[in-house]
Amino acid sequence: MDLVIKKALWKEKEKEIDLLIKSGIIEDILPHQPDKNYDAKNIYNAEGLVILPALIDSHVHLRDPGFEYKEDIESGLKAAAGGGFGKVMAMANTKPVNDNQEVTRYMKEKASSLFPNGPELYPIGALTKGLKGEELAEFDELLSAGCVALSNDGVPVKNNGLFRKAVEYAYDVGLKVIDHCEDVYLSENAVANEGKVADLLGLKGQPSVSEALQVARDILLAGYLNIPIHLAHISCRESVELIYFAKKKGIPITAETCPHYLLWDESLILEYNTLAKVNPPLRTKDDVIALRQAVREGIIDTIATDHAPHAKYEKETTFEEALFGISGLDTALSLTWGLIKQNEMTVDDLIRTWVIRPAEIFSLPYCELKKGDPADFILFDPEKKWLVTEESMLSKGKNTPCLGQELIGKVKATFLKGTLVFEEMN
Ligand code: DOR
Ligand code: ZN
Repeated sequence: MDLVIKKALWKEKEKEIDLLIKSGIIEDILPHQPDKNYDAKNIYNAEGLVILPALIDSHVHLRDPGFEYKEDIESGLKAAAGGGFGKVMAMANTKPVNDNQEVTRYMKEKASSLFPNGPELYPIGALTKGLKGEELAEFDELLSAGCVALSNDGVPVKNNGLFRKAVEYAYDVGLKVIDHCEDVYLSENAVANEGKVADLLGLKGQPSVSEALQVARDILLAGYLNIPIHLAHISCRESVELIYFAKKKGIPITAETCPHYLLWDESLILEYNTLAKVNPPLRTKDDVIALRQAVREGIIDTIATDHAPHAKYEKETTFEEALFGISGLDTALSLTWGLIKQNEMTVDDLIRTWVIRPAEIFSLPYCELKKGDPADFILFDPEKKWLVTEESMLSKGKNTPCLGQELIGKVKATFLKGTLVFEEMN
């Protein structure tokens, strides 16, 4: 064997296992035997640590090329490894926009030369040239360069006719469209959720129907064309209800939400906390309840971070001027673990939403901790308390409402292709 992981906790259940790894593949999973001496090049003692498959983040912004002062591929993938991710899918709102093969190739090559064992970077191509919403990008070119999906994330496509063409063209080449659902006329100049908190703070609000209207459009189109569409960062109850009915009718829709929508509501922006400014905005307590239930029931398929790192000065300004976005890779698993501790979801829900469904939806290989799977897994310390600080975060983007807070549960080690790519030393 190349590596044996000894005494890992299996899905937090009482069971302890030994995991045998050879040539990057899980050779065997055995009940832990205290006296057994394995013939292996490396032995890792995982006592007290929970073993989980490496997570897949199907929605991150790595800002490279063009905005390396916020994040670059190196810092972003380091944060991914530290957060327990084996694969990330990076959005196209870079500079230049990832609407052509040069940018896609640059991203992939930089990632694989810096991190030959992973985390792997899977680029998402732009739906329209320059994300302008006017002309479709060359999808076949983006596919052959290595894009695994297409999206205009950040800059929603207003033109329904063009969006329909994009969905059909993407289907023809074999790529899935990820849609940022927002009616930009309803959200014009908005910086927060429309409602009591925005009123109190005197901020322009974005109503939840701005999202739900586009969700309805996408559902109708997916049903009419019988082509799957994936809905990004779902934030409100109305969208959940529409997705529920669409799935009941057999319409090929899949949907994602993010840890911040499962954890927090609009009250977090009180005192003009720009770290909680994100698009779509944090909604109401009732929306949080609906989303948690939707995750448990599989109405929401995936959780993704929408990791949106920004520089300090871009957040340390007025609420109106601060940029939208939360840096998510460092904290996502701890926050999800917190939901498990509160009985809001289970470890099986975690594995389904963070590993299995994203892999299925975007046709990526994945590890489910079965014999023969790629040895992509993490060892997670469920009791470890850690303070979220600028120093403890690996991402360049320190913009999270968790800053200064203590979280419980942290990745101790990340193994990809059977190789240790991250280890927490503190
Ligand atoms: O909050 C957000 N930040 N939402 C988006 O849709 C884009 C993202 C970014 O790129 O900063
Ligand atoms: Zn995004």
